[in-house]
This record gives sequence, C-alpha cells and structure tokens, in this order.
Amino acid sequence: MIKPRILVLYYSQTGQVRQLIDNITSDIQDKAIIDYAPIEPVIPYKLPWKASEFFDVMPETVQHLPIALQPLPDAIKNQHYDLILFGYTSWFLNPSLPISSFLQSKDAEILKGKNVITIIGCRNMWLHGQETVKKYLQNVQARLIGNIVLTDSNPNLVSVLTVIRWMFKGKKEASGLLPAAGIQEHDMKRASRFGMPIYRHIIENKLEELHQEFLMMGAIHLKPALIILERRGVKNFRKWAAYIREKGGPGAVERQGRVTLFKRLLIVAIFILSPLSSLTAFIQLQLQKKGLLQDAEYFKGLGYKDNAI
Ligand SMILES: Cc1cc2nc3c(=O)[nH]c(=O)nc-3n(C[C@H](O)[C@H](O)[C@H](O)COP(=O)(O)O)c2cc1C
Repeated sequence: MIKPRILVLYYSQTGQVRQLIDNITSDIQDKAIIDYAPIEPVIPYKLPWKASEFFDVMPETVQHLPIALQPLPDAIKNQHYDLILFGYTSWFLNPSLPISSFLQSKDAEILKGKNVITIIGCRNMWLHGQETVKKYLQNVQARLIGNIVLTDSNPNLVSVLTVIRWMFKGKKEASGLLPAAGIQEHDMKRASRFGMPIYRHIIENKLEELHQEFLMMGAIHLKPALIILERRGVKNFRKWAAYIREKGGPGAVERQGRVTLFKRLLIVAIFILSPLSSLTAFIQLQLQKKGLLQDAEYFKGLGYKDNAI
C-alpha cells in the first residue's frame, strides 16, 4: 500500500510544539512518510529572552506585521501532501510572529487546497490566535479539518510563574515549590492517541469526519471563563500595540518608555488585578452562561466568523 505523505509545518522556539507534534505522530512514523519544515526567522529569537526584547515583540505580534523568514525548501514546495500538520503557539493572544508572518508570505501558498490540522501548544490562551489562523487559512484557501490544543493544566497563576521562569531564565524543570513549566508530561505522552485516527481517516478518505472524533477524544478543553478574559485581553493589547507603535518600530529607543510601562501594567494586571478580574469574569459567566457555552462550542469548531472574539 502507498504510504500517505504528511508535512509538518511549524514554528517552535523552545521545542515544545515540535515535541507535541512528535508525540502525536509517534505511532504512525512507519505508516506514513513525514516531512518536516520548520518556519525559521532570518533573525532567530533567543531563549532565554531579555525582558526588553520579550515585551518589545508585542506590538508587531498583535498587529501581525511580518518579519523576514527563511524560504521553504523547493523540495517541500514541489511535493504532494495528503495532510499538513500546522504547529504553532500563541504570543500575546495572537499566533506567534513567525507564524502570522508565514501565513501572509508567498510560501503560504503551499497550504492552498490542502487538508490542514492545526496543533496548538501554549500556556492556556489560544482562542484569538486560532481565530486569526482560521482567517489566514481561509485567505489561502486551505481546508482546516482538525484542531488539537494542549495547554499547561496547572492553575493560572502557577503557569504564569513557571512560564516567566522558563522564558526569562531558560529553566523549564521544576524548582522550589513550582512544578515544571509548559504542557505537563502525562498530557504530552497521551497526545500519541491522536496519531492512529489521523492515519485511518487519511486512508479511508474521511478527513472531514476527523475533528468530531478529536473532540470525542478530548482534543480541546475550553473553560468558558477564558473567553471573557481573552476578549478583555485582546482589546487591551490592541490599544497598547497602537500606543507603542506611535513611537517607532521594533527596538526603537523612542518607544522603550512605553514598552516598559506596558510590561509593568501587565505584571500588575496578572498578579494584582487577576483575582479581581477572575471574580468579575465568574459573575459575567453566571449572567451570560448560555451565550458563552454556545461561544465555547464555536471556538472548539473549525468554522470562522468575523469578530468572534
Ligand atoms: C513572546 C511570548 C508571548 C507569549 N504569549 C502567550 C499567550 O498569549 N498565551 C499563551 O497561552 N502562551 C503564551 N506564551 C507561551 C507560549 O505559548 C508557549 O507555551 C511557549 O512559548 C512554547 O512554545 P514554543 O514551542 O514555540 O517554544 C508566550 C510566549 C512568548 C515567547
């Protein structure tokens, strides 16, 4: 039997998204031909991050202003693929800047007419990122046929602390009272359960039924309160992005004062206002439960409508 051909197209700064994809495909490595095409910025982002560089990347990430990328190899562009696994993470509630840059580039034509499964590995806020990716996929006439999301299942503030230690010190492993950062190991390992259904649906030519099976397998957990918090966050990030960019582009000395102000306010919002905003989100959730449950169903799905978040 001819083996199906799968392309893994992804950006993963720390390797976490790549590890997630490797787990998902672990059981089908010998059943399919799998090619890998990492999306690579011409100037790579460094890990650990300097705080000034981390927060300075927010405005362009939020406004999807492309950075320069290495071109995809011709061998990949000229190949036929039955399926593309598109792996990415969120930065500031948007697709990471290398991903939104890629989706606007000429190389994104590789996605045209292809079956695409998005694979998201992030802390826990991915809704607006995926809405953005859905829209770009629609623009290049790709066919989104599935989505798998893995997040850090620790409590919100714990995951904020561990992600800070990871991003700014490069320390992912557990230390002191804090657990390891990122997606938890047992969740990572269990991701291998998605491989065989992917293979089976390609072979049986039934990819349009795959996402329903993913959902039944628990491919996406979504707490409706998160919808409220993301809506608030997206609005604020847009305002701050415009405000910072009034003073110049990436790294401009003139904008550093505003970048620092944004950093301080974000820290206050997360650690001081967060319990308060969780409480108001909880109240809003009780008042708008029905609507938010409907919204949650929409976000778990593959359809796209403007301004859902
Ligand atoms: C600049 C930056 C912004 C981030 N913003 C978010 C975010 O908005 N939501 C979220 O869940 N995780 C966020 N994260 C954490 C990442 O989602 C992710 O867990 C981590 O960067 C690993 O992804 P990788 O495989 O690309 O390295 C951010 C990380 C970076 C570097």
